[in-house]
Amino acid sequence: MKIADFELERYFARWEFAVRHLLCASDLEGYPLAELLALADDETRGLWQGLHLGYTESSGHPLLRAEIAGLYETLTADDVLVFSGAEEAIFCLLNVAVGPGDHVIVTWPGYQSLYEVAAAAGAVVSRHELHAADGWALDVERIRVALRPETRLVVVNAPHNPTGMLPSHAEWRALTELCAEAGIALFADEVYRYLEYDEADRLAAGADALAAGISLGVMSKSFAMAGLRIGWLASRDRALLAKCAAFKDYTTICPSAPAEILSLIGLRARSTVLERSQRIIAANLAVLDRLVADRPDVLAWVRPRAGSVAYPELTLTGRFAGWDADRFAAELVEAEGVLLLPGSRFGQSGKRVRLGFGRLDLPEAVAGLERFAAG
Ligand SMILES: Cc1ncc(COP(=O)(O)O)c(C=O)c1O
Repeated sequence: MKIADFELERYFARWEFAVRHLLCASDLEGYPLAELLALADDETRGLWQGLHLGYTESSGHPLLRAEIAGLYETLTADDVLVFSGAEEAIFCLLNVAVGPGDHVIVTWPGYQSLYEVAAAAGAVVSRHELHAADGWALDVERIRVALRPETRLVVVNAPHNPTGMLPSHAEWRALTELCAEAGIALFADEVYRYLEYDEADRLAAGADALAAGISLGVMSKSFAMAGLRIGWLASRDRALLAKCAAFKDYTTICPSAPAEILSLIGLRARSTVLERSQRIIAANLAVLDRLVADRPDVLAWVRPRAGSVAYPELTLTGRFAGWDADRFAAELVEAEGVLLLPGSRFGQSGKRVRLGFGRLDLPEAVAGLERFAAG
């Protein structure tokens, strides 16, 4: 299989562990292991202390699958398949769900593997482009018009990376009804679910909303445990999950045994875990709201509705006139050790950058950005 480089991941491979402040990470500040273990109940403490480091069940630990199923309204453990990260789930799902002759519609800009893997698998990919001028809104009518007889899959990431877009309940219902009527599967990348700023905005999971819905979840974002590398697909389409399970025999075979138990502890204690994540996001959003209000000379944004990222435009006036986001990010990291992610990594050259606000050092990172802008 030939596949293009994952631009964002190549950028992070260069910078993530070489800078003082990541002002563009999408994950939440990693949960401390000691604090997680303190949340274990008797059963999970026993599982952790008595763990043997052998291979695990390839579909995932039965208790973990049952706990994940509890995140959905209509699913049981057999509707869940555990992967090593959301990334592996995307790779397997797109490889088995689409191929030559198939057409896929994917929200764009977006997380590159959501469209790149589909294209590498041989499918024709249409981008459903989101526009800042519309508040990044998902346009279900445009998706309807883009459907073809050979469309097999619609891929929507919501809450959305990088824009923070979250469809309204009405838009989401319109989309799920459209897919159900047309007999097309909906792949819902919901890795930022539970980070809605107003809980009332939380959408029905794709796997609950329609029989051919496939939900993607992960421990990395809302649950703040990216280092566990545990993700999952959840769907009532068990035949599709079985094909994904067979494909996974060629990638990782089974999940990491310690990571599964730690994920189980985290999911069982999810109210505590999510409350911490939501608190971090709320505090950081207040800092960013102040930045946007006070410094229109630095950037302007469509305020995100959910998640841990936003996609503002740099103003780039005064001494920055004629610069683009790439140059600004390169000089900022040199001067202040603060990393922004230029839109070019999403295939959009110009003035946009992705901001990430899930980390505890955000106030220091913003101070560095302001110093550089004032400099
Ligand atoms: C929208 C989206 N989907 C999937 C992933 C992959 O998650 P993970 O790296 O935890 O596998 C990411 C990571 O940034 C993401 O932003």
